[in-house]
Amino acid sequence: MPLLEVRDLSVRFGEIEALHGVSFTIDEGAVVTLLGSNGAGKSTTLRAISGLVAPRAGSILFDGRAIAGLSPRAIVKLGVAHVPEGRRVFPGLTVRENIMLGASNGNASSAAIRREADAMFDVFPDIRHFADALGWTLSGGQQQMVAVARGLMAKPRLLLLDEPSLGLAPVIVQAVFQIIAEIHKRGTTVLLVEQNAHMALKVANWGYVLESGGLALGGDPETLWSDERIRDAYLGGGQAKATR
Ligand SMILES: Nc1ncnc2c1ncn2[C@@H]1O[C@H](COP(=O)(O)OP(=O)(O)O)[C@@H](O)[C@H]1O
Ligand SMILES: [Mg+2]
Repeated sequence: MPLLEVRDLSVRFGEIEALHGVSFTIDEGAVVTLLGSNGAGKSTTLRAISGLVAPRAGSILFDGRAIAGLSPRAIVKLGVAHVPEGRRVFPGLTVRENIMLGASNGNASSAAIRREADAMFDVFPDIRHFADALGWTLSGGQQQMVAVARGLMAKPRLLLLDEPSLGLAPVIVQAVFQIIAEIHKRGTTVLLVEQNAHMALKVANWGYVLESGGLALGGDPETLWSDERIRDAYLGGGQAKATR
C-alpha cells in the first residue's frame, strides 16, 4: 500500500478548475517530485493534501486513511507537514521560536519543544548560530532552512515542500537539496514541488508532471529526463542532456 494515494482529485476556485481528475501515489520512503509550469496546479495539490483547500471531488488516502476534508491541524497530527511557498518566517519571532511553532504535539511542555527545536540545528548547522536572532534578519536560504525545520518539528512521515529553491542563489540551492537528501536518508517521505527540474530529478526516486490541472506524465527520473516534453518545458530543449 502506498503511503499517499490521491485519486481523481478535483479542485475549483470559482470558475477556475485548478485540478481535474488528478491521481497519483507516493510510496513510503520515496522522494517524489511534482513538476509543472506556473499555474499548473502544483501548490493546489499540496494544499489539498494538507487540508488548506477542500477538494470538489476525489479522495486522498494517507496510510490508507481518507484525509480529504479533515482540518489542517488534524492532518499534521496524522503525519503530513507542509512547507508552503515563500519560506514565511514570523517577523517578531526568533529563529528558535519560529521552529518551535512547528511542534504538533499540543501536550508537550515548552521546555521539551525547545529541546526538539535545538536538535533541529543538527540537521541545519548553518542556522544554529542564529537561534536567538529574529527570523526575518536571515538570508533567503537561511529562512528557507527555518521553514523546513519548522515543518520537520511535526515529525512528519510525509513532508510536502513547495518550491524550496525558488529565488535562491545556486550555491544555496545546492545546500537546500542536500538537506532534502538528508531528510530522505532519515526516513521521511518527501513530495517536492520544483521549477528546477534538473535538481529535483537528481534527488527524486519518481516524478510526476502536471499540465493545466491534469497529470500529464509520471515516471522514474531517467524516463522523465529523456522525455522531450520535459526538456522543452524546463530546459530549453537539446542542451539539457549535456548539462546532466
Ligand atoms: N486561492 C485561489 N483562488 C483562485 N484561484 C486560485 C487560487 N489558488 C490557485 N488558483 C489558480 O489555480 C491554478 C493553479 O494554481 P497553483 O496550484 O498555485 O499553480 P502552481 O503552484 O503550479 O504554480 C492557477 O490558475 C491559479 O491562478
Ligand atoms: Mg505554486
